[in-house]
Amino acid sequence: MDGNGRWAQQRGLARSFGHRKGVEMVRQTVRTAGEMGIGCLTLFAFSSENWRRPPEEVTDLMGLLKLFIRRDLAELHRENVRVHVVGSRKNLAPDIKGLLDEAETRTRENTGLNLVIAFNYGGRDEIARAVREIAEDVAAGRVAADEVDDALLGARLDTAGLPDPDLIIRTSGEQRLSNFLLWQAAYAELVFVPCLWPDFDRAAFEGALAEFDRRDRRFGAVDDADLAVGSG
Ligand code: FPP
Repeated sequence: MDGNGRWAQQRGLARSFGHRKGVEMVRQTVRTAGEMGIGCLTLFAFSSENWRRPPEEVTDLMGLLKLFIRRDLAELHRENVRVHVVGSRKNLAPDIKGLLDEAETRTRENTGLNLVIAFNYGGRDEIARAVREIAEDVAAGRVAADEVDDALLGARLDTAGLPDPDLIIRTSGEQRLSNFLLWQAAYAELVFVPCLWPDFDRAAFEGALAEFDRRDRRFGAVDDADLAVGSG
């Protein structure tokens, strides 16, 4: 959800206005994803590196997340959305931690859209935490070293039980992953859209999905058609 700050600056406003507008787009995007029948939508709300921002911006982003959960959780629950949170909960303020736990617990039985909020999340940190846990199990004799494979590691990540992303969309024209779902993105299609997050409306979302539809996904294999040509 990149570009909130630039959106505000282009209008001569403080960055916080961009984040506010960004939350409106979060609401709209969650609704659209549900209507489109998307199974799982992950939003990168706050990265483990975002703590490096000025303290007032960090406080602002924390406040917006709290407000979002307090105001929108009941409606998300009514809409049968199941909320998951990925990222480290260590060292989070107790009120934020409590709200994140509540969002997950209250929606646990829901069967509609899986809404994953990546908060205090970094792909490298997630992998390092999983590896540390596995190393402890190996040291204690609970897991044999040769049992460690990609399935075992995947099951120790915060996203255990969730599907890998088919499509990752980054707004604002930047073309990098910035520590987002590094492990899970192995075969994801990446779509970079020029619009800033506060402008990411339904048409922009549909445009990114149309681009995804045009991609040829082979997952390391070759197309049947290419095989037929190759075999003469
Ligand atoms: C990136 O734009 C955006 C963020 C770091 C925060 C995204 C958070 C929200 C939209 C609000 C809280 C989230 C939820 C799920 C309610 P930027 O600030 O890096 O923009 P810039 O690159 O133009 O400076």
